Amino acid sequence: MPILGLKTPGPSKPAHFDLEPLIRPNILALQPYRCARDDYSAGILLDANENAIGPSLPALKKSDSTTDPSDVAAQTISLLSDKDIASLNRYPSPTHDELKRAIAKIRGVPDENWVFLGVGSDEVIDILYRVLCIPGKDRVMTCPPTYGMYKVTANVNDVGVLEVPLITEGGAFQLDEKAMDAAFKANPDLKMLFICSPGNPTGTLIPIDVIRKVLDNPLFKGVVVVDEAYIDFAPEGHSAASLVNEYANVCVTQTLSKSFGLAAIRLGYLLAPPPLIQILTNTKAPYNVSLPTASIALSATSLEGVAAMSNSVATLNQNRKALIEALSKTKGVGRILGGNHANFVLCEILDQDGKPSNKKAVEVYKTMAESKGVVVRFRGSEIGCEGCVRITVGTAQECEEAVKQMAALLQ
Ligand SMILES: Cc1ncc(COP(=O)(O)O)c(C=O)c1O
Repeated sequence: MPILGLKTPGPSKPAHFDLEPLIRPNILALQPYRCARDDYSAGILLDANENAIGPSLPALKKSDSTTDPSDVAAQTISLLSDKDIASLNRYPSPTHDELKRAIAKIRGVPDENWVFLGVGSDEVIDILYRVLCIPGKDRVMTCPPTYGMYKVTANVNDVGVLEVPLITEGGAFQLDEKAMDAAFKANPDLKMLFICSPGNPTGTLIPIDVIRKVLDNPLFKGVVVVDEAYIDFAPEGHSAASLVNEYANVCVTQTLSKSFGLAAIRLGYLLAPPPLIQILTNTKAPYNVSLPTASIALSATSLEGVAAMSNSVATLNQNRKALIEALSKTKGVGRILGGNHANFVLCEILDQDGKPSNKKAVEVYKTMAESKGVVVRFRGSEIGCEGCVRITVGTAQECEEAVKQMAALLQ
């Protein structure tokens, strides 16, 4: 059965991949809900049970005067155009094609048919599970240490997770290709493989050539999901987005939460060939992305917005370098693990014998948060991360304060 609504086919490579049999039969057969705004969006709109009087927002009255910095509603409204404000009482676009086109342009995929928008990349991950995995039956592969939501979302959707750990020796955090091959052979029905690059909590890039090998590997017939939440903090040329134009079995999640500094608006997206985008679109809630979110995201993905993002990334990457240097000189801090290609640093906390210690790391992490006003994250329970804390790169001042407090506790 073909994917309903599909206009553009997408790449035909690799020969061993066929998307349709991977999709849950009920989803493939789904007649997408046609919402009011799919049909008409101009004229006297009496079709969607909206409120014709307009929004009940005190902030609207204040929006032309100087906005109070603590008034989030007023501040948000001041970012919107008059046209957007006038349509706050209306349901937003179900597609946000203009935003999708802006994302396609900056990320190098052909057009809006190659972009799916979600409420953060967390929603994108969830909908991938819902479209591809039959609850109670299907399984996916993850490569820990990795982003925890792959497992949580699998649990929520009653999907099994086969874990093939990264090679962790010496903090390498690379895919264990041999072990993955063995797992592919033993489990030919895996639906997805999550590759996080740069990884969380590793900060390590997975080389494009290695990802390409997985895509060409006939032993794995599922979809490869490359999570690039942190890609803008890595040197250019490492994004798997280019592979989306070439391979039918790959998709890439990205987000405005990290490099663009817009975690609060909740905008993540998937770059993928049109067949996968179409089936996700058929399945999503009609108005998953709000108008204020789409408007802010459109501004962030404009030429000026991308330039501002690059400046912010350059500053954070400089701060990361300084943070690494300072941590390396701090007594009681061991190796900095991983690739340092994200906006965080993973470092070992040592015990008195100079060994990475979870006990010491928890103690430092808790005391810092509870008595020193600096919150980092304990990651020592992750495979290959014994004794580790993950420190998000903050402002130069914040990083200095974090190292100062950590050094005092490790005296
Ligand atoms: C690897 C990775 N992917 C995805 C996300 C979620 O991002 P979003 O804010 O877009 O939901 C995070 C958040 O920390 C992350 O670390």
